Amino acid sequence: MVRPAKSTNSAKPTRVTNDMRRLRFAHGEMTQADLADRTGVTRQTIIAIEQGRYSPSLEPGVPDRPRLRRTARRRVPVPHPTDPIRDPVRRRIMKALVQNRYGSADVMHLEDIEEPEVGADEVLVRVQAAGIDAGVWHLMAGRPYLLRLFGFGLRAPRLRVRGRDVAGTVAAVGAHVTRFRVGDEVFGTSLTGSFAEYTRVPADRLAPKPANLGFAQAAAVPVSACAALHALRDAGKLEAGQRVLVIGAGGGVGTFAVQLATALGATVTGVCSTGKVDLVRSLGAAQVIDYTRDDFADGRNTWDLILDIAGNPTLARLRRALTPTGTLVIVGGEGGGAVFGGIDRQLRALLLSAFVKQTLRGVVSAEGADDLETLGTLLEAGSIRPVIDRTFSLAEAADGIRYQHAGQARGKVVVTVP
Ligand SMILES: NC(=O)c1ccc[n+]([C@@H]2O[C@H](COP(=O)([O-])OP(=O)(O)OC[C@H]3O[C@@H](n4cnc5c(N)ncnc54)[C@H](OP(=O)(O)O)[C@@H]3O)[C@@H](O)[C@H]2O)c1
Repeated sequence: MVRPAKSTNSAKPTRVTNDMRRLRFAHGEMTQADLADRTGVTRQTIIAIEQGRYSPSLEPGVPDRPRLRRTARRRVPVPHPTDPIRDPVRRRIMKALVQNRYGSADVMHLEDIEEPEVGADEVLVRVQAAGIDAGVWHLMAGRPYLLRLFGFGLRAPRLRVRGRDVAGTVAAVGAHVTRFRVGDEVFGTSLTGSFAEYTRVPADRLAPKPANLGFAQAAAVPVSACAALHALRDAGKLEAGQRVLVIGAGGGVGTFAVQLATALGATVTGVCSTGKVDLVRSLGAAQVIDYTRDDFADGRNTWDLILDIAGNPTLARLRRALTPTGTLVIVGGEGGGAVFGGIDRQLRALLLSAFVKQTLRGVVSAEGADDLETLGTLLEAGSIRPVIDRTFSLAEAADGIRYQHAGQARGKVVVTVP
């Protein structure tokens, strides 16, 4: 009878040996000694696992003790090729800003939770900074109620961690990911919430961080700049030489929209409150309308393309400010109603568009690697730049959400993660 190998590491958690198997699978060329080095288990244990004589329990926290194999049918599980490659010495518990129910920012609190596991096409990012976009408040509050029907959770949020924008360093990659390596500096949008020390990002929603930007600046980009790009380039079909009106020009999306439209060769008019007039002009707007004093729809001017980002003006007012064959793109606007949140305005625009010469449509932006790379090129060339109003630490992130939602921020608000 073959005797089981004696283990000297009875206090080590079982996950160490599970990781050892994954490493072994991923690095088939590793020697037993290398494996013992990387995982901290003894060489005898490794030999016992390989010979099928040792089956560690899969329950977390159970000591890593060898057991006698009774029959040849009970084999040690073999890792699947799509299992993520992880470094077994990295910690598995992280700090994150979480919520257990919908509500105001008061429901958010710091908690120690498990780091996310990445899938084959995903990347684990060590978060250095996370942008706060307007959508963070909506997902936190569960409003408009309509969004709860779209898989976000009827009574409570299915995903407890908030935050989508992320910039950081790659901590682990899934088995199919070839574009990124551990240590790369990246930016993109998270699947599992970026107000945390680690987050999971699909590789096709990630791009190399522009070299000239810090992490906080890069984290201000993905959601807002992609929305501006899609609204101008895809929904608005912007052409050089056109006149563009950006309503909500001083906010997260608006500050990118003014710069992108200018970079694409348009002549831009921005609409914002008094305190943001200088900022919007500095971003390239040829003209700025202070909405507390003047009305963009007073009939004195018309524009080829209008980006409606804030204020919820009526369709009639927006159409009055459009050229006869101009295009209106509705990006968003707060205060559009607890149930529909203004989506009804977008639907009415779409219906009306079928009967008029003007084109009226909404946009639902998604952040892909191609667009992030396009934006990265413009950022590195200095054609556009992120505007950051304030940064908050992870512990203060709930205050950051309150601040962003108040609508006073000039540009973006960012959470930095130490
Ligand atoms: N469709 C999509 O895919 C998509 C993507 C991203 C965001 N969004 C939506 O777009 C909207 C804006 O997002 P954001 O991140 O830019 O928000 P934000 O950073 O809060 O910016 C909104 C800006 O609008 C300004 N504003 C408020 N009332 C206004 C008015 N009557 N006229 C002109 N400007 C006014 C605010 O400042 P001042 O009043 O001081 O000027 C603020 O700067 C949100 O509703 C968001 O949900 C949609």
